[in-house]
Amino acid sequence: MKNQVDRLNQQFQDARDVQAVLDYFLNHFSGKIGFASSMGAEDQVLTDLIQKTNSQTKVFTLDTGRLPDETYDLIDQTRNRYPDLRLQVYFPRPDNVEMMVAEKGVNLFYESIADRKLCCFYRKVEPLRRALQGLDGWITGLRREQSVTRQQLKLVEFDEDNALLKINPLIHWTEDEVWKYLRQNRVPYNRLHDSNYSSIGCAPCTRAVPQGGALRDGRWWWENPEHKECGLHRKNQELTLEKV
Ligand code: ADX
Ligand code: SF4
Repeated sequence: MKNQVDRLNQQFQDARDVQAVLDYFLNHFSGKIGFASSMGAEDQVLTDLIQKTNSQTKVFTLDTGRLPDETYDLIDQTRNRYPDLRLQVYFPRPDNVEMMVAEKGVNLFYESIADRKLCCFYRKVEPLRRALQGLDGWITGLRREQSVTRQQLKLVEFDEDNALLKINPLIHWTEDEVWKYLRQNRVPYNRLHDSNYSSIGCAPCTRAVPQGGALRDGRWWWENPEHKECGLHRKNQELTLEKV
């Protein structure tokens, strides 16, 4: 598998031609590549590009149950804009959430990093596993400049937790390039971005970034930058509850 990943990274010279990357993985690879959209700015770029490349691609979003209303509005707008979009919404298992809330309360994430990761596990990581079933790989909107935890990203990686390929076509894109694409192509975006929200996740764990702040400063703002991954993008760790 490592050879395959190295070969693919060489083949695309680390993702300089995003359209060629998408064309290869969506049309010539295996037909089993899905796209995970959080409805964030990068993901809206990819939704637009993917619709232009292969509109039959499985696109999925993980609805944690705690998303901001603005994100639900954007889901509707995006469906309207792309009538062929095959968007599947995955929810957490009710029994998991009920058990967690009974034990730790509805807003456990403010109590400790462990509790925050537990909530992310039940609301995001477990549904992701279900969404990826039957796929050979998944596409994300991750970019290197987003945070200290993402600077080493490669175009193609082996996702050990889920045992499939992970493809990050926008690793080299800057924030400006993302917004230029959205504006030029009139792609709908989350209106929270107009109120200084640069990265958007769940409502209780996201806030606007103060002037001069870093891109992900508004996510889990009470934690240090090196902890700010929710479990979807951790590397080389088993996703067991003992370790979240
Ligand atoms: S997070 O891990 O901190 O939440 P971020 O919001 O930066 O990640 O998103 C990075 C990528 O992870 C997105 O481009 C998308 O591919 C995937 N992702 C994050 N959250 C979701 C979600 N709720 N549903 C589907 N994909 C998601
Ligand atoms: Fe829970 Fe916050 Fe993680 Fe959303 S971002 S799943 S509310 S801890």
